[in-house]
Amino acid sequence: MGITAIATAAYIVASLLFILSLAGLSKHESSKSGLTYGMVGMGIALLATIALTVEHIFDLDDLEMPWLPVVLMAGAILIGALIGLWRARIVEMTGMPELIALLHSFVGLAAVLIGWNGAIGGPHFDDVAAEDHGAMIGIHAAEVAIGIFIGAVTLTGSIVANLKLSAKMKSAPLMLPGKNLINVGSLVLFAVLTAVYVARDAKTDTTGYVLLGVITALALFLGWHLVASIGGGDMPVVISMLNSYSGWAAAASGFLLGNDLLIVTGALVGSSGAYLSYIMCKAMNRSFISVIAGGFGIEAGPADDTDYGEHREVNAETVADMLTNAKTVVITPGYGMAVAQAQYGVAELTSELRKKGVEVRFGIHPVAGRLPGHMNVLLAEAKVPYDIVLEMDEINEDLADTDVVLVIGANDTVNPAASEDPGSPIAGMPVLTVWEAENVVVFKRSMAAGYAGVQNPLFFRDNSAMLFGDAKDRVQDILAAIH
Ligand code: TAP
Repeated sequence: MGITAIATAAYIVASLLFILSLAGLSKHESSKSGLTYGMVGMGIALLATIALTVEHIFDLDDLEMPWLPVVLMAGAILIGALIGLWRARIVEMTGMPELIALLHSFVGLAAVLIGWNGAIGGPHFDDVAAEDHGAMIGIHAAEVAIGIFIGAVTLTGSIVANLKLSAKMKSAPLMLPGKNLINVGSLVLFAVLTAVYVARDAKTDTTGYVLLGVITALALFLGWHLVASIGGGDMPVVISMLNSYSGWAAAASGFLLGNDLLIVTGALVGSSGAYLSYIMCKAMNRSFISVIAGGFGIEAGPADDTDYGEHREVNAETVADMLTNAKTVVITPGYGMAVAQAQYGVAELTSELRKKGVEVRFGIHPVAGRLPGHMNVLLAEAKVPYDIVLEMDEINEDLADTDVVLVIGANDTVNPAASEDPGSPIAGMPVLTVWEAENVVVFKRSMAAGYAGVQNPLFFRDNSAMLFGDAKDRVQDILAAIH
């Protein structure tokens, strides 16, 4: 059996492993095996692709030094693997989304380079009848233009997402005048330019390259504009949307390279990313079309300069008293718990209170933290029992009957403005209705806004009190007061 046949079989096995991986990742209990399937599948895919490429290089008759491209490829794989290992080892859990955004940008860049390479190299006519060559040239040109377009949108969109997530760029939405017209106009222009490029006979003359150059520049601009136009609160959807785009970019590259595995994997990533975006949009009461179209139809509300009055402060001893005298306590963690790594203290506090007969439960918002399931992972790591960790929809109706709610490093996800102020940038997003409880204690370091950059009227409510400082330290102080 030749290398090509073995590689084809390996590609089928890898595709199946990727499907098993996605299925495994959809449940808590099977997520570890899901990861293993994915890693084994990727290992097989890599080995098969390397073997195919090496065979192809040695088959080329006119190549004088066939070992040179092989050495270069080995060097590139080694350098890439080392950088990947190093980054994965040092990345903090809170930095995962920005790392993922960066990785999506690489997929986009690769798709752009493969597209340009396909444009310069032209189509391969192996196994194609002579009378079909004309149609092949047209299909190939369309693949080139579409691949470059999706790749370039993914490239700049992911770079903007990375900058926004790492706070190197403001998370507020960019509101260029006529932004919807810019997006729709760019898409129409892309369709027209692609039609002209495909219809022209010559593809590798100056005009052909200029057309492709304009398509690339237009897509780079559109990717930047689409993501820059989306505000902080909607960023989770943007990340899964870019994940989806990167899948379609890979699939487009698969068509150009004639690589079936890339087409299958790209389609898997593209469709699962699109479905995840849809689920997230539903959870956050956002229009799917509006978000994938770069905040289409969302207009900026007036700046919030409302005077909410004074906030009240408490100390750890008072909170310890409140907790030990309470019958029911709900903890709503957010991004700040992850930053402070307060989950272990929170778990200890939970078990101490439960020993004293206090009913303690957790309320988890679907986009609390910086990645889906962020809070669940942290709480599981600290061995908080699963059965007291509830989803937002499961706990919201009990909050009115709760004695004390501890808001630990959460902000946007407990902001009453989302349900009460139609002009708020996060209006319509479902939130944990913590303000309905008898007492609310907010753990944070200052009065600063959350990720969406929106003021939170919760902090100024009569039943709310602020416990300032690092969440981990304050939880330890409460534990010390309880003991
Ligand atoms: P945020 O609204 O981001 O607020 C976190 C709060 O934690 C901040 O107000 C901050 O206030 C506080 N904090 C930070 N470090 C702290 C520390 N060491 N100790 C105590 N407090 C600390 O959090 P959230 O309620 O979890 O909402 C998540 C936001 O991120 C949403 O807007 C969501 O759309 C967005 N987002 C989510 C995801 C996913 S998929 N989950 C992905 C990207 C973006 P101080 O600075 O005053 O301490």
